[in-house]
Amino acid sequence: MKTIFSGIQPSGTLTIGNYLGAIQQFVQLQEEHDCYFCIVDEHAITVPQDRLKLRQNIRSLAAIYLASGINPDSSTLFIQSEVSAHTQLGWMLQSISYMGELERMTQFKDKSEGKEAVSSALFTYPSLMASDILLYNTDIVPVGEDQKQHLELTRNLAQRFNNRFNDIFTVPEVKIPKVGARIMSLQEPTKKMSKSDTNEKGFISMLDEPKKIEKKIKSAVTDSDGIVKFDKENKPGVSNLLTIESSCTGKSIEALEAKYEGKGYGDFKQGVANAVIDVLQPIQEKYYALLDSEELDTILDHGAEKAALTANKNLAKAKKAMGL
Ligand code: ADP
Ligand code: NA
Repeated sequence: MKTIFSGIQPSGTLTIGNYLGAIQQFVQLQEEHDCYFCIVDEHAITVPQDRLKLRQNIRSLAAIYLASGINPDSSTLFIQSEVSAHTQLGWMLQSISYMGELERMTQFKDKSEGKEAVSSALFTYPSLMASDILLYNTDIVPVGEDQKQHLELTRNLAQRFNNRFNDIFTVPEVKIPKVGARIMSLQEPTKKMSKSDTNEKGFISMLDEPKKIEKKIKSAVTDSDGIVKFDKENKPGVSNLLTIESSCTGKSIEALEAKYEGKGYGDFKQGVANAVIDVLQPIQEKYYALLDSEELDTILDHGAEKAALTANKNLAKAKKAMGL
């Protein structure tokens, strides 16, 4: 049994990209492993957030995790800011992180580009992410492809800490899904689908109603040659839709190409929309039943208590090793 850790930011309603790249694999991993799934609210505040909206997004994300199949009896689901060891170790890891390596993070470049005011926390965010992971003796971190670079930094920080002070941290491995690791925007298929996209037509929210899902997929950007074939370079829009259907249904890309042979994009898009709706509809039903339940509070309280037990032990070891 391995230890698994992963987090998602409560920065808006999750997209089908978050589901296919992250949550779907969490659900598969949880029965065989010791899993920690975190609502990383302290990462969300590295960019401005509306206070009430943030509260709602935290609760909504917890309900989405559970509705998607995270089992609170076998996994630990908790809110980052309720376990103070995260920011404590985060600071310690900032102290051994170099400006140069943080400056190389492409996510920081993307998120700060063209912005007038960029917080220092947005810059040091990867050190806090390393803390999240290292506090739990994590062996495996299942994430989408965009997190690969941050994971590499986490491994470097763990090794640096172990070499400089004492051999305390497990050096984690990244796990990226074979299909669905990078779902692209429906409007700009060369850009990743993101819940913080300002163009609402670019992403499918996990809470979009079936009609809306259909409409967004029907207006997804494709190309003019009318052939349903996987070719990321020349047909990014069609390839993205094929990836979405494949990842939703578990059918291979080849099987889907065969399914749509001789058919037009109209039939194809309807097929993709149906696949997405089939995945999201049952999740949405469970979500609305959970959202205002007391059960949700109990699960999060229990999760934070359980997480703190492990996190505090490792924090104490790390402090001692550093001479604090
Ligand atoms: P976002 O970029 O939507 O704000 P987060 O940074 O909170 O999402 O990421 C949560 C998880 O979802 C991470 O594991 C990330 O790699 C994954 N993820 C985010 N966007 C996508 C995408 N378009 N395709 C696949 N996985 C994604
Ligand atoms: Na488990």
